[in-house]
Amino acid sequence: MPAGGPAAVRGVGAVVVAAGQGHRFGASRPKQFVDLCGMPVLAWSLRTLVNHPDIDRVVLVLSPSRAASPPAWLPDGVLVVPGGVFRADSVRAGVEALAGEVQTVLVHDGARPFVSAALVSRVVEGARAGPVVPVIAVEDTVKRVDEGGWIEGTVPRERLRRVQTPQGFPAEVLNRTHAVDDAGAWEARDAAAMTDDALLCERLGIDVATVEGDPANLKITTAGDLSLARAMVQAGLIAAAN
Ligand code: C5P
Repeated sequence: MPAGGPAAVRGVGAVVVAAGQGHRFGASRPKQFVDLCGMPVLAWSLRTLVNHPDIDRVVLVLSPSRAASPPAWLPDGVLVVPGGVFRADSVRAGVEALAGEVQTVLVHDGARPFVSAALVSRVVEGARAGPVVPVIAVEDTVKRVDEGGWIEGTVPRERLRRVQTPQGFPAEVLNRTHAVDDAGAWEARDAAAMTDDALLCERLGIDVATVEGDPANLKITTAGDLSLARAMVQAGLIAAAN
């Protein structure tokens, strides 16, 4: 430590959330633990993050029962913590585990195995200046429907973006958003609707930037997504498991 006081906290931490039950996937175990061409789905993104030169610390959030006996295949150096009922609770558990250790935090869904090192680099660079999310332009025509499925209208797509993870934040900003959450500002039904982390910033009026996402960075939600992911590996679009 240099003379004159503690060193400024630097470094980048990654929180990987994988504490969900994955009900939409429809298998006996959550999708993040299902085999994807030789490695569990979750192991793919952990490998990328652990090996990335910009990432100093990786925290993995698992359901409390799995966190009590983590899988043997986890890469060395991954810190495991138990998650909560909603995704936002799990993120908070991971962020708290990094408290005071890093200046920048990336939050990644364990259900996205194919995050590339290049995308991690883009998000880390952006997050040094402020919150940042990777996005993809919407190519399809977008309609709004009523409860019966009848078309109500067409939504202009020019400014619509699909949002991915990892999302990056100065640690201080994430701590601030979760502190507001602690104060009971948001109801449980809001917590269920918090499907990403930038939403917390938006609600507080904190600007969120975007960087180019990656079409290969798919999220595995259904069995069909897993089939697509396997086909991508088999076609050589993604480097195979070691
Ligand atoms: O349910 P969904 O697919 O949107 O979840 C996104 C990510 O958040 C998944 O990786 C899931 O495991 C994680 N999650 C969590 N804790 C929860 C709910 C979801 O870590 N309580």
